Amino acid sequence: MSSVSTAPVQIAPGQTSRVRVVFVGHVDHGKSTLIGRILHDTHSLPDGKVAHIQKVCAAKGMDFEFAHLLDALMEEQAQNITIDTTQIQFKTDKRPYVIIDAPGHKEFLKNMITGAASADAAVLLIAANEGVQEQSRRHGYLLSLLGIRQVVVAVNKMDLVGYSQEVFDRVCAEYRAFLAQIGVEARAFVPISARNGVNVANRIGENQGVAPTAWYTGHTVLEMLDTFEPPAPLTELPLRMPIQDVYRFDDRRLLVGRIETGTLRVGDKLVFSPNDKTSVVASIENWSGPALTSAVAGQSVAITLTEQIFVQRGHVASHEVDAPIETNRFRARLFWMGKRNLMVGQPYKLKLATQELDVEVVSVDRIIDASTLEAASGDRGYIAKNDVAEVTLQTRGALVLDNQDRNPFMGRFVIVDDRNVAGGGIVYGGVYADRTKVKSANIYWSEGNVLPKNRVLRNGHRGGVIWLTGLSGSGKSTIARALERELFNSGRQVYVLDGDNLRHGLNSNLGFSPEDRVENIRRVAEVAKIMSEAGLVVITAFISPYRVDRGRAREIVLEGGHEFAEVYVEAPLAVCEERDVKGLYKRARSGEIAEFTGISAPYEAPDNAEIVVQTDVQSVDGAVAVILEHLLPRIRTITGDEISI
Ligand code: ADX
Repeated sequence: MSSVSTAPVQIAPGQTSRVRVVFVGHVDHGKSTLIGRILHDTHSLPDGKVAHIQKVCAAKGMDFEFAHLLDALMEEQAQNITIDTTQIQFKTDKRPYVIIDAPGHKEFLKNMITGAASADAAVLLIAANEGVQEQSRRHGYLLSLLGIRQVVVAVNKMDLVGYSQEVFDRVCAEYRAFLAQIGVEARAFVPISARNGVNVANRIGENQGVAPTAWYTGHTVLEMLDTFEPPAPLTELPLRMPIQDVYRFDDRRLLVGRIETGTLRVGDKLVFSPNDKTSVVASIENWSGPALTSAVAGQSVAITLTEQIFVQRGHVASHEVDAPIETNRFRARLFWMGKRNLMVGQPYKLKLATQELDVEVVSVDRIIDASTLEAASGDRGYIAKNDVAEVTLQTRGALVLDNQDRNPFMGRFVIVDDRNVAGGGIVYGGVYADRTKVKSANIYWSEGNVLPKNRVLRNGHRGGVIWLTGLSGSGKSTIARALERELFNSGRQVYVLDGDNLRHGLNSNLGFSPEDRVENIRRVAEVAKIMSEAGLVVITAFISPYRVDRGRAREIVLEGGHEFAEVYVEAPLAVCEERDVKGLYKRARSGEIAEFTGISAPYEAPDNAEIVVQTDVQSVDGAVAVILEHLLPRIRTITGDEISI
């Protein structure tokens, strides 16, 4: 017989075959009773515990309830834990489990998001006699927020409804429909009576001859839990070694860090993110013994590389085939516990592994008050203490991360406000680029026989990019067309790349999520670079709402050796909305179009554009003249003798 351990559970490296289960449900729906029942039926209680509590109850004139058992255990445990989550263990024939229970949703969410506790699976309780309540819906939300996918719904108190199949079916149908709406899929619905022990560990409860739910042919709660996947051992996850320090030793460099996940071997080819440099592990040093040939998750090591490359603290080593995400914008679920509200658009510090960067929340998709699980309006511009929010974050530089469900260490971060950790978050929904493909092997850049200068001479001007950015309806396309006409008429090779047009073809597979906009702008920048290469003046008209993307577009074009000038086509949102040429603002306001720039998605105005034109006060011709004045000297040939305005 195993006994209950009430110490906080430390998950040692490699030892992760225990499945951590959280029980979600209202106390009145029998949560404590169910946990007490499981401990009892799996013989996980210390000898004499039940008898002792029975005696205590009798002395107080109370009936014995399994809930009392749990209360007693929790009280004992409360003496010696530092986090707000109790962790109690039990075993089935198949494997050990840890029950994670928290005093309330707030503590549970906080612990789950900050990493103090984590759950692999959930048992969600609904009382059959009460049916699906507002509370049950909120509990569903809780699981969807945390992305817990292995869920079993226990419809409890079946004894109070005469084990009626009809009641059970009704509850299931209603709740299943609700869960589907929020993207949670329950693996099973089990009709149970925790008090009588029906369908929990056994099909038939105590003192009962026949199964009262003979109509039910599915699994018991514990059988269901046994079908769930255990978490993958940390050593088997993709390699992640965040670099803590780089030491110079003789002429060697020692890279020091802790292997958070995966396995590292001498001879492995590593890629360091975010600078994408690769090298091979020459040695794994060992201070107190012979050098190692391999090291695994949980070990802190110092390695040397065969080829010296630039690596610094904050960089993350991985294998090339399973590299992390590199981005400066990502989605996360954030738990805020700061005294001050988290303000959208304000700078904070973000720490993830050994990285530390400035960060801001650029948009809020959903806010839930963790104490009540009630939704708040996402567009109020701040996140209050004890809110859980789904947000898009943006860092000042490139950040290396993983989705939390792929890698718990690289998918979790904290936010520092005024030197205090004021929030924690988990990353979700990030897209992995295939780095091995991006850096396609065996390809060579081939030089043509027509040299850039031949084109310049023939065209009489150099190629380059005029990048127009601004809100929808600010006048980008109108100005672009007028500018194109002007340049064309004066004999220049010119072409307009327009957002709406490219989205009909090259970018037709992209929408308006932050990720898609990044890719939209990346492609446009690459195409503009090629067209500049071909000698054209390229005018781009894209909202391009993110500063970082425009910066990257500039880099792409400059890398190709071409001119780049950013034009901020400025018009107040109210003016653009008033114009509403395509009727899109109206539809965005009514909620028909999601993530609409200026309404429900951010626009970051440039702070260092070469040119600013204000279309609410300047005419189209006026704007074109200002742009030409700046542009023409820049596309002039070396001799510069063809310029005339
Ligand atoms: S960008 O943000 O990725 O640069 P782009 O300039 O290509 O956007 O496309 C913007 C055009 O798409 C707008 O002028 C508008 O006609 C249309 N559009 C449709 N949905 C949206 C949306 N949610 N946000 C912004 N523009 C939208």
